[in-house]
Amino acid sequence: MTRSQDMERPFPTVAVVGLGTMGTGVAVAVARSGRRVIGIEATEDSAARALARIEEATAHAVDRERITAAERTALLARITVGHALTAAAEADLVIEEVPEQLELKREVFAELDRICPEGTVLATGTTALSVTRIAAATARPERVLGLHFFNPVHTMKLVEVVRTVLTSPQTAEDAAAFARDLGKEPVAAGDRAGFVVNGLLFAYLNQAAAMYESKYASREDIDAAMRLGCGLPMGPLALLDLIGVDTARTVLEAMYEQSRDKLHAPAPILGQLVSAGLLGRKSGRGFYTYEAPGSSRAVDAATGPARAKVPGRAVHTVGVCGSGTMATGIAEVFAKAGHPVLLAARSQEKADRAKAQLARSLERSVTKGRLSGDQRDAALALVTPVGQYSELAEVDLVVEAVAEDLAVKRELFAILDKIVRPGAVLATTTSSLPVISCATATSRPQDVIGMHFFNPAPAMKLVEVVSTVLTAPDVTATVLELTAKVRKHPVECGDRAGFIVNALLFPYLNDAVRMLQEHYATVDDIDTAMKLGCGYPMGPFELLDVVGLDVSLTIEQVLHQEFREPGLAAAPLLEHLVAAGCLGRKTGRGFRDHARR
Ligand SMILES: NC(=O)c1ccc[n+]([C@@H]2O[C@H](COP(=O)([O-])OP(=O)(O)OC[C@H]3O[C@@H](n4cnc5c(N)ncnc54)[C@H](O)[C@@H]3O)[C@@H](O)[C@H]2O)c1
Repeated sequence: MTRSQDMERPFPTVAVVGLGTMGTGVAVAVARSGRRVIGIEATEDSAARALARIEEATAHAVDRERITAAERTALLARITVGHALTAAAEADLVIEEVPEQLELKREVFAELDRICPEGTVLATGTTALSVTRIAAATARPERVLGLHFFNPVHTMKLVEVVRTVLTSPQTAEDAAAFARDLGKEPVAAGDRAGFVVNGLLFAYLNQAAAMYESKYASREDIDAAMRLGCGLPMGPLALLDLIGVDTARTVLEAMYEQSRDKLHAPAPILGQLVSAGLLGRKSGRGFYTYEAPGSSRAVDAATGPARAKVPGRAVHTVGVCGSGTMATGIAEVFAKAGHPVLLAARSQEKADRAKAQLARSLERSVTKGRLSGDQRDAALALVTPVGQYSELAEVDLVVEAVAEDLAVKRELFAILDKIVRPGAVLATTTSSLPVISCATATSRPQDVIGMHFFNPAPAMKLVEVVSTVLTAPDVTATVLELTAKVRKHPVECGDRAGFIVNALLFPYLNDAVRMLQEHYATVDDIDTAMKLGCGYPMGPFELLDVVGLDVSLTIEQVLHQEFREPGLAAAPLLEHLVAAGCLGRKTGRGFRDHARR
């Protein structure tokens, strides 16, 4: 079959050059679509090994019942494997998957350009090299592009279709149609190191490595914070171990070379691990130590949440200040765990309304079968709404969840200081204000700590426990113990902007906005790429619209103000949308128009 005979299905014959991890996966995926595959390896020996890998991979697919034995036989019959590049002459599309070295790829492309007819499209599987520079090794740059598959190819649906400034629109369209025909989801990207997924992912992984290196938080806490606070499938340090510390460093080097953004400069710890041969799972040790090289079982990861070194104080009765979403959610958490709760607002009416809200939330849990009627009644009976803070005199812990305004919070802490018994723990659930500024509004800063719950508090497992430079060790211990007792997962960190989660999440969201602002990729493509490429529950623009663009902008401004890193400056597009009143779902319009959906 030639291309002209089958315009419906682009590229009926495909050559795959380099049959390693990626090439094997791509060859099988292409053959599964019914196409003929010409596999080409470097030598006769490596070709034989590649064929064995393909046979093994397809046998595995039969074992897993992804294909039948008969389909496997037919599939294998469509694949030939050799070691002469000249075989590529028969292909309509050549996909190169040789090792990630620019000179090697350029040599392969120069050869392919001589061998293949003029109309053949040449694609590179590079992750971080310049597609433009690879295309420049040929006399047909308009028919050269990147086809970036993800590992493992058979499960990962995403393919980034990378155009250079010279790639013809037809070539990019054909390649996207080809990817769709393989059952994949193509997204369009320009030729920039990391493309969409890695461009956004690796900057974040790098910040996580730097955060660990600075001993701001433990590796377990950083990983747990991102899994439980953002719903990510893996923590960043565990993911670096999976990807390979060396690979991550190479990708970051390439990104830095293009962007000159310090946030892309590989964290020094990555270089140290690489020099020591600690490359992650594949070498048995990276950020974590594994059972054996290649194993996914970390043997030295602390199980369970952070543990305190000193005994904590006894906490029975809890006061919660505020009447909004967070306050009622936090009160619910404590009441469900059996603590008497005084829900304190500025007026009895507000407090009563907050309790009614809490009752509705408990009712929803009963409807969903998560809570029994008795449990609901028991929890509700433990909550007393009070209209005056003076009622909090005898509580063991106060959690403040009033407006995110430092003056308001400081005023409240000064009041609590006068009212609440000595020795009680005073906590703030601020997301972006310094805990120490709340502490210094009291005469007992050693008793003040951050207890950052996530919204919705009853559902989200994570609590960031934020100690200031003045927090007493037994206060930290109290809150760590109590958090675990109320069935949340505490992570420990210091009192700096963004704590763990927001400091890692918002720069990533900001990078996504910058990508959009630079017309590098579309809202839909970026969201799709992050969901399919990284298994994220939401794309960055979906998340920004849910969180609120104004809230996101404030957090980004706080981060920039704290670290003065130019790369952390809020993207102008975000500022413009906020100025225009497009704040996300709550106003009906943000990055997407929700009113019309
Ligand atoms: N591994 C991943 O997770 C991943 C994901 C996406 C993209 N990529 C990219 O895919 C490409 C391939 O990576 P990989 O992980 O499969 O590498 P690999 O080392 O597993 O495989 C490369 C293969 O190319 C063969 N080869 C070397 N020189 C050759 C030549 N001149 N002609 C033909 N074959 C030759 C090697 O024998 C080897 O089998 C790289 O550009 C990489 O950056 C990798």
